[in-house]
Amino acid sequence: MMEIGLFSLMFCFAAGEKEDTAMNEYAKHAAIWDWDGYDNSPEYDYWCSYAKQFGKKVLLPMCAIGQAGAYMAQHGLDVTAFDLTKEMIEQGKKRFGSIPNLSFENADICDLHLKDNNYDFCFIATQDLNLLADIDMVRKAFRSIALHLRKGACFALELVLPLHESFAYPSQTYYPRVPNYTDKKVWKEGKGRYDAVTKRQYIDQVIYIQDEKGIESIPHSIILQYFERDDILSALKDAGFHIAAEYKNREKDVWTPENQAWIVETIRN
Ligand SMILES: C[S@@+](CC[C@H](N)C(=O)[O-])C[C@H]1O[C@@H](n2cnc3c(N)ncnc32)[C@H](O)[C@@H]1O
Repeated sequence: MMEIGLFSLMFCFAAGEKEDTAMNEYAKHAAIWDWDGYDNSPEYDYWCSYAKQFGKKVLLPMCAIGQAGAYMAQHGLDVTAFDLTKEMIEQGKKRFGSIPNLSFENADICDLHLKDNNYDFCFIATQDLNLLADIDMVRKAFRSIALHLRKGACFALELVLPLHESFAYPSQTYYPRVPNYTDKKVWKEGKGRYDAVTKRQYIDQVIYIQDEKGIESIPHSIILQYFERDDILSALKDAGFHIAAEYKNREKDVWTPENQAWIVETIRN
């Protein structure tokens, strides 16, 4: 689940990539974001139970089309989901707009200004934070989140810590574990490399969409920036959080330094 090169990350976006031509492609990506119909409800249940320890009001950053948020709202929570990519938010509203207690916002985690500032729980699931280009952006993101949480609220972060050896992996083809469409086929090819000096992972991919008109291919590149634990802890503390726990997995086993997977549970001061 939390290894570098996650299946889910074969379809995500880097904040720094936004150019006009790319925006058209984002719209296409958003339309097929749920290309894999694999059942994620165990993951969503995990976040539901986590949130309910703190209250009902959930803030969900970098939500893409908001599948997790939709599930959580259908399971008793009051969710505000937001994403920088407007096409994602439009697609989210189209799919899930009728679900009560779920609202969508097109917003930047580094400069967030929502009307409510009393959320009980906020989480960033595996590796989404790695889309922020540097630690200054992370610091801004944490300050933005802090401004929107009530005192005593929880902010949980799932991360993969940087490896200290570079590596590369050749092109592979990825098919959906459970195809989700009847009118088209979607698959992807991707290769990548990780640079241990810059702690960046470069992923180049091509997304293929085949329908009755033919096959469309969409080339796409992303960069994931990995962050050291000490830098994240310092940014969290500076933003107004204290560290409540550190886990190595979702079973809540205590984190120890040999673990690359890291879940940090923080509380708003
Ligand atoms: C890997 S995807 C999210 C996946 C999502 N957690 C899910 O489970 O479907 C990362 C998302 O982060 C969004 N994003 C990137 N930079 C952002 C920023 N500065 N503020 C808000 N969202 C951002 C992208 O638009 C993209 O939809």
